[in-house]
Amino acid sequence: MSTTIHTPVLHAPAFLHWPRTLFARLALILVVGIALAQGMSFWLTMTERDQSMVNVMTGYVEREVTSSVALLDHLPPDERAEWLPKLARRSYTFILGPGVTGTPPDAVLSERFAKSIAEGIGKRYPLTVNAVPGDAERFQVHLRLTDGTPLTIDMRPMPGAPMSGWLPVVLVLQLVVMAACCWIAVRIATRPLKQLAQAADALGPDLKAQRLPESGPDEVARAAKAFNAMQDRVAMYMKQRMQILAAITHDLQTPITRMRLRVDVMDDSATGARLQQDLKEMETLVKEGVTYARTLHGTQEAPARIDPDALIESIVDDYRDAGMDVSLSGSIGRAMVTRPQALRRIVGNLVDNALKYSGDAPVVVDIGAEVNGRVRLSVLDRGPGIPEASLEAVFEPFVRLEESRNRQTGGTGLGLAIARQLARAMDAELTLRNRDEGGLEARLILS
Ligand SMILES: Nc1ncnc2c1ncn2[C@@H]1O[C@H](COP(=O)(O)OP(=O)(O)O)[C@@H](O)[C@H]1O
Ligand SMILES: [Mg+2]
Repeated sequence: MSTTIHTPVLHAPAFLHWPRTLFARLALILVVGIALAQGMSFWLTMTERDQSMVNVMTGYVEREVTSSVALLDHLPPDERAEWLPKLARRSYTFILGPGVTGTPPDAVLSERFAKSIAEGIGKRYPLTVNAVPGDAERFQVHLRLTDGTPLTIDMRPMPGAPMSGWLPVVLVLQLVVMAACCWIAVRIATRPLKQLAQAADALGPDLKAQRLPESGPDEVARAAKAFNAMQDRVAMYMKQRMQILAAITHDLQTPITRMRLRVDVMDDSATGARLQQDLKEMETLVKEGVTYARTLHGTQEAPARIDPDALIESIVDDYRDAGMDVSLSGSIGRAMVTRPQALRRIVGNLVDNALKYSGDAPVVVDIGAEVNGRVRLSVLDRGPGIPEASLEAVFEPFVRLEESRNRQTGGTGLGLAIARQLARAMDAELTLRNRDEGGLEARLILS
């Protein structure tokens, strides 16, 4: 037999949201915890203080009252009245008379005072104690002196000394110091994590991420060391990968050239033409492969101050001279520091694609207002565009869409990968976007 167990789903109220950052969480735990502990010890101190104040006071009242009653008892009856003001204290006065009647005292403080007075003089003088109606802590002790005169002690016990004015100030100061310490501690604890995240983010294809300082507390130093070691390993693997790729593609060039020469002197011209075509494709792949392998580590080209308008014009002119439909509109109008060879290669690859998949390639340059005045270079076309889901995937090496179409267009699937590597190396952004009016826009934003 099976039973279904319904687990109640508990939803925390909106105001109980656990903060998202580690910084806020640690700070919250520390501050709330220490503030609670602080509050508790403050409460304990205050209670303890009140307690001992009351003890001191009851002891004092007990001795004073005992001696005053003894004095009054010894005085001749007609002198007693003039002594009363001298014997009065802040918390009690003597009255020669029966005083008022009432219920037994039930306030905590009154009870304690009454008890200590009873201990002082209760053995010699039988006492009655009652609260004064209408006054919470006030009470009267009634007794008869040895000659039968009624005497009343009117008591107004005072609670412990009031809190001094500087106490809240010190308390607030303590809380401030504590909050500051918490803040510093939490910062010390969370900052290495932030640095680690930044370093990991910066670890790009050029592998020029900053090395983390291997100093500081043990745990941090260990994490930094591990991260640096990992960075070195990744760099080594990348380098090996590049070397292998470069070696293979480079070594392939020679046999391909030899084969082309041999095919040239072949008798069968039909087969020869097809072989030539295949060899040409292989050659392109090899060339692109070498370029891609090189760009994996960014570019060695040094940035130079150039006139970008002249450079882009010359690229477009080269295509025009070869009879391709490439147009240019807009201009930048100022010199900029960039890597001309890399820029030429990127624009070339984008224009090649536009021509291949559409037939024409309008190039538009401007200083984009919506990209903070940075230089924007767009290669537009009216081709089929790229499905939204594949806009990023086509930047991967060897990724080509639609096998059939590519068979006739020919290509290696490395053009965009190379362009993006180069763009990254020069801190530019390269993105693709389907245009509303159809076709693709490849947009390069130079920084
Ligand atoms: N302008 C474009 N219009 C439509 N599809 C494109 C365009 N540019 C690139 N693509 C798609 O992206 C893929 C990858 O492009 P690329 O890296 O240049 O490789 P290749 O051009 O050698 O195929 C292409 O195979 C194609 O499917
Ligand atoms: Mg291409």
